[in-house]
Amino acid sequence: MSKLWGGRFTKKTDQLVEEYTASILFDKELAEEDIQGSLAHVTMLGKQGILPAADVEQIKDGLHRTLQKIKRGEIEFSVSDEDIHMNIEKALIDDVGPVGGKLHTGRSRNDQVATDMHLYLRKRVVEFVDLLQKLQSALVEQAKANFDTILPGYTHLQRAQPILFAHHLLAYVSMFGRDIERLQDSYKRINMLPLGAGALAGTTFPIDRHYVASQLKFGGVYENSLDAVSDRDFILEFLADASIIMMHLSRLSEEFVMWSSNEFNFIELDDAFCTGSSIMPQKKNPDVPELVRGKTGRVYGNLMGLLTVLKSLPLAYNKDMQEDKEGMFDTVRTMQGALQLFAPMVATMKVKKDNMRKAVNQDFSNATDIADFLVGKGLPFRQAHEVIGKTVLYCIEKGKYLLDLTLDEFKQFSPLFDDRIYTVLQPENVVNARNVYGGTAKEQVQAAAARAEEVLAST
Ligand code: ARG
Repeated sequence: MSKLWGGRFTKKTDQLVEEYTASILFDKELAEEDIQGSLAHVTMLGKQGILPAADVEQIKDGLHRTLQKIKRGEIEFSVSDEDIHMNIEKALIDDVGPVGGKLHTGRSRNDQVATDMHLYLRKRVVEFVDLLQKLQSALVEQAKANFDTILPGYTHLQRAQPILFAHHLLAYVSMFGRDIERLQDSYKRINMLPLGAGALAGTTFPIDRHYVASQLKFGGVYENSLDAVSDRDFILEFLADASIIMMHLSRLSEEFVMWSSNEFNFIELDDAFCTGSSIMPQKKNPDVPELVRGKTGRVYGNLMGLLTVLKSLPLAYNKDMQEDKEGMFDTVRTMQGALQLFAPMVATMKVKKDNMRKAVNQDFSNATDIADFLVGKGLPFRQAHEVIGKTVLYCIEKGKYLLDLTLDEFKQFSPLFDDRIYTVLQPENVVNARNVYGGTAKEQVQAAAARAEEVLAST
């Protein structure tokens, strides 16, 4: 069959050009959105008296049938029809006859494709918020099981101060909370209708864009027709949000990988989320977090790719913009995979509380607290810091930890020490001493978990 735009041409398109310019192999993913947009458009054409009611009914029936056929796999998309929009229009005309050719009245593929992308991403954003909330719930549940689990907190990957494992997990709940807010904020800009912009300048037909917007439940219509067909900010924003989500997931992944190692031995991921080695029988590899960490790279790449495609593009539509799709679909798939796996992986992991606790007993992460103790006795913090630094050095030379020192040994460094320091130095007390809003004291962490649960329950 000939091209939908064939009139002006005398020659057939070169076969390689056809393959090179076609997007059907990937934009077929937009089939449902394309038909959804067309149904709203043709309904409006009827309401405005641009098309007779009988034609509108035929076209609508045809569109519904076409969608069913696509879902049943009965329509074979063809590269010579270039993209999903023209493949569907062809299928419609096959179904209803020449009246199907009236659907494209007052519309261009430029405002059509933009509309499809808005509809597509709008759905995805809602799904991602849901997936992120499921992950948050899994983290909160795991936190609730670990209000008494103490492990070393790190800075520079050096043991710093003991913290509750629940506190560590809730840090990620906060991070994913910001991700959710970012997605929800981007929704406002995704939830806008470009249709009615025509190719770039609007249309000569007396269309009603606001009616189309209300049918498709968009929050508003694009103000400017040139902007409507040229804007891909909403996709960039999604890719940027996705990059930050993946960055967060990759940080948690890295911790899971480290914690699963013999060197840390803080957690064990469930067998269902690990794989073995083809040669080393003892191996249990944390493939899922490793791959999430690795796949973060392609999501960043998709963001950089689209930013680069759009750089310096003159208004309005340019074919370059067809390159907005694969990176977006890839990002959606990559992030869906990661988030779907993470929630159950968090829920099923074994927390090796004793090993975490052992690590805390074998470090100097309570050093700040005896410095604070001396400050309580009136010593300026800077001097207290010096005293404890020397005490730690002494411990290292003697192969001891602070709790192993006798009071006499302590007193060599400062006469201000007394036997209350043995209480101060206990990891539980070190943790619970940080009883400030947002701190790691058990009371604060329990309150934080309760707040997180409240937010989750309200959505
Ligand atoms: N397949 C095209 C895309 O994804 C649809 C818009 C084509 N418009 C055009 N004037 N060639 O960008």
